Amino acid sequence: MADVVLGLETSCDETSAAVLVNDRGRPELASLVILSQDVHRVFGGVVPELASRAHLSTIEPVTRRALEEAGLPLSAVDAVAVTAGPGLAGALLVGVCYGKALAAAGGRKLIGVHHLEGHLFAPTLEDRDLAPPLVALIVSGGHTVLLDVPEWGRYRLLGETRDDAAGEAFDKVASMLGLGFPGGPAIERLARTGRDRFGFPRPMLHDGFDFSFSGLKTAVLLAVRRSAQLEADRADLAASFQAAVLDVLAAKVRAAIEHTGYRTAVLGGGVACNRMLAERVAAEIKRHGARVAVASPRINADNAAMIARAGWFHLSRGETSDHYLDADPRLPWPGLEAGSSASSAPSAASPKVPQ
Ligand code: KG4
Ligand code: ZN
Repeated sequence: MADVVLGLETSCDETSAAVLVNDRGRPELASLVILSQDVHRVFGGVVPELASRAHLSTIEPVTRRALEEAGLPLSAVDAVAVTAGPGLAGALLVGVCYGKALAAAGGRKLIGVHHLEGHLFAPTLEDRDLAPPLVALIVSGGHTVLLDVPEWGRYRLLGETRDDAAGEAFDKVASMLGLGFPGGPAIERLARTGRDRFGFPRPMLHDGFDFSFSGLKTAVLLAVRRSAQLEADRADLAASFQAAVLDVLAAKVRAAIEHTGYRTAVLGGGVACNRMLAERVAAEIKRHGARVAVASPRINADNAAMIARAGWFHLSRGETSDHYLDADPRLPWPGLEAGSSASSAPSAASPKVPQ
């Protein structure tokens, strides 16, 4: 087992490095540095080429800073965990190449980590007793997945989005309402002053475990176009949209808790920074004696601590990647069991660790 794991995350528009140290057999976060790329705000969305270039110039100082904050020299690092996918190809490539170089140059272990598995492990950094069996809802800018997690490393896909990811819907609706990027936090803020009075559809509310958000997005667009006084309607539009999304997400988690009989629901990914989401889900599953686990916003949004933590898990099982590790924008979930219905599911039944 490694004693000091350096985590690296560059899958989208955050350059992040973190150090996890071994505290009597348990992973303890020694430092976390997150540098958010501001440049994309000007364009209203992440520009892949700009993201790669920014990662390239910041990955080294961000890593150095994480080591300084941990009070450790690079020579103390004995394993590197790096996001191998999914994400933006060029952005991922920067982290993967840098991680591979650090591993090769220092004779360190290397482990490629699935970004969403990182989100899944994030709450364990703050809630050390959190353990499966559990249901997990991972809602980010690019993904919406509902998982049955009977144990760490074994995942059954219950449902996923058929079109837009929940975070993507937040971002697009924010843009329709003239709010900045990223849209999620702006919508959450504005929704606090609004009322759910537009009666937007709750797509696929009681229809299996899959999600769909594109119809809801269109409904908001039509309401925006029809509005004679958009400025006055904006807060209510934000509140109505958010209520519709959260109703669907909370109902699916409740259905998954009923289906599995588990007592824990983990929320992860950027959208899980939404305080109302955790409250709605907690209220839905309370009567089943189940509780919600969600990390604080810093650990929940994209960061390298969660990548180091998921890497730690794989390393503790003796799993490593070799120097052929490559960035894979569509990396399949590791450990996804056969019979799971993910379109991105690996064809092999055996657990797969990114190589
Ligand atoms: O996990 P994440 O940081 O990056 C990806 O892996 O995609 O998720 C980013 C997404 C964005 O779509 C952003 O609008 C959304 O998370 N988000 C939120 C909130 N904070 C971030 N959505 C709703 N409410 C929030 N408070
Ligand atoms: Zn993410």
